[in-house]
Amino acid sequence: MGPFDWLPHAPLEPLQLDWLQGVELAVLRLDRIDPLISGNKWFKLTGHLAQAQNASGIISLGGAYSNHLHALAAAGKRFGFPTVGLLRGHPQENPTIHDLKAFGMQLHWLGYGGYRARHAADFWLPWREHYPGFHPVPEGGGGLTGAVGCGVLVEQVRAQLHTLGWDDYDAWWLAAGTGTTLAGVVLAEAGAHPVYGALAVPDDHGVAQNVSALVQAGYELLDASRGGFAKVDPPLLDFIETTQKACGLPLEPLYTGKALLALKQQIEAGRFPPGTRLIFIHTGGLQGNRGFTS
Ligand SMILES: Cc1ncc(COP(=O)(O)O)c(C=O)c1O
Repeated sequence: MGPFDWLPHAPLEPLQLDWLQGVELAVLRLDRIDPLISGNKWFKLTGHLAQAQNASGIISLGGAYSNHLHALAAAGKRFGFPTVGLLRGHPQENPTIHDLKAFGMQLHWLGYGGYRARHAADFWLPWREHYPGFHPVPEGGGGLTGAVGCGVLVEQVRAQLHTLGWDDYDAWWLAAGTGTTLAGVVLAEAGAHPVYGALAVPDDHGVAQNVSALVQAGYELLDASRGGFAKVDPPLLDFIETTQKACGLPLEPLYTGKALLALKQQIEAGRFPPGTRLIFIHTGGLQGNRGFTS
């Protein structure tokens, strides 16, 4: 497989919203890197794919709406390598699953108990036998390998600052699910600018531990989960609709919508003085929106 030298470009765009109170905001549009391979997922995959150069294919796992499996399957189709997806739960149809199949990914449903065993020492054994030579990628493309691939986001922002008329910025703001993307940005910043992670999942998901295993300082995690992962409420959906109408930015309710709404609340609470320049990372995930509308 590979090598993969496709390094997509994420546009950096100014955002005008009536709640910014003098804070200047720009969005790094990972949702716009490619029509099919969207979001932080490609960047998290790059290191894993580099490690898989002698592999016959890639095997990974996720839920039935997984943005990670979606990006992996799309990359497999684009670059011509076989992919296998191990899925949480029981067979179901939805737009994400439809795409995974259309991209040629082999799917196996593990049930809920089977999926819970994914961290067990012998979990991969039968799959290695079933798919010899396939390289396993952890859930969500995580770990240090995934994080390091996100470091290029810092370079991409720095290279585009002049388009905003900025010579620098003060901090980053992004959604955190496992904290891998955040850790990659923190590593690449090496303390130069703080990184705020808006948690899309509650405390008991262990994001703080994940992140502290990868980086020691230079970030802050804030709860943005609104009562639980994938919990959606009318004010959140209103906010997403209003934002799209106000500035054309599409958001989804699980990660990017919650993250931007949490930023609004923090600005209203006075966390950032007027003139602060923030980079919001749009981590993609819009493919998952179809689960809410269809
Ligand atoms: C759209 C989207 N944004 C953000 C995240 C969070 O990324 P991370 O797991 O690297 O914190 C994910 C996946 O977990 C995602 O699918």
